[in-house]
Amino acid sequence: MLGGPASVELASRVSKELKANLIIPELRVFSDGESKIRFPAVGGTCVIVQSTYPPTDTHLLQAMMIAKKCADDGAVEICAVVPYLAYARQDRPFLDGELATISLVANLLSAAGVKSVITVDMHSQLGMSLFSSVEISNVSSVPLLADHAKGMKLNDPIAVSPDAGGAQRVSDFAKRIGSDYLVLKKSRNRATGEVTVEDPDFDIKGRDAVLVDDIISSGGSIIAAAESLRRKGANRVYAMCAHALLLGDAAEKIAKAGVNDIVATNSIPNQYAKVDLSHVISDLLTVRYGKRSS
Ligand code: R5P
Repeated sequence: MLGGPASVELASRVSKELKANLIIPELRVFSDGESKIRFPAVGGTCVIVQSTYPPTDTHLLQAMMIAKKCADDGAVEICAVVPYLAYARQDRPFLDGELATISLVANLLSAAGVKSVITVDMHSQLGMSLFSSVEISNVSSVPLLADHAKGMKLNDPIAVSPDAGGAQRVSDFAKRIGSDYLVLKKSRNRATGEVTVEDPDFDIKGRDAVLVDDIISSGGSIIAAAESLRRKGANRVYAMCAHALLLGDAAEKIAKAGVNDIVATNSIPNQYAKVDLSHVISDLLTVRYGKRSS
């Protein structure tokens, strides 16, 4: 197992569970931003753990460098565990002149020698379908987030998706915590990125609301949703997600919008990573490759 520079801690947890050897490639980043990786020769099945949160392109390229080195060393199978898969949201040209970048990412990973990818809460089925040359498996963080929520002593909770795209996710989450749920109507101005949410026609006065999303990036979606829930009289508001990118001052703005806490998985190592993915990733790897004792 190889722990890429973005996911050393997660790789170490997974390798411990699997009792697999862990190699942490030596990394040098030059002043122009180029990375150089170095590790001893490997072979057999290589599992690379590298999330591609910002700096996304750097982390993506580092994953490809590690894969290419494994391929050059003669690895028979290369599996990339990429919990946060950058560009998954760009699964189609939203505006004229754009492209479905995730399709290019799939081809680049394949060109580097990656045969299969394991990711967490892939943004869309469409994005998954664009992985034609690489097998892709998706792990849902919803059971883990729901288990965490059950320990949060919520008062008459209601689960809320900030948008229609998260309807299935929130329905699954709600079932697991034994609550009802709401799907908000969100619109985003594709040119400016500005997000607006319609106030729901539903009484949530005094109830704890748990917003569930795959990604919190600029925070725009969660902020608009939380403001709406507050207007409707929600008591406490929590934001739970698989991937807390929280760019710039997103976390502060989310707190100002009335969100009591943010809970995320450790796909991105930061202070909000309270839910550990290592068990589910290890389980999937065990099913696929068996446990190692070397
Ligand atoms: C959108 O479809 C996604 O599920 C997330 O709601 C979105 O990517 C979050 O981004 P931001 O935090 O920038 O609103």
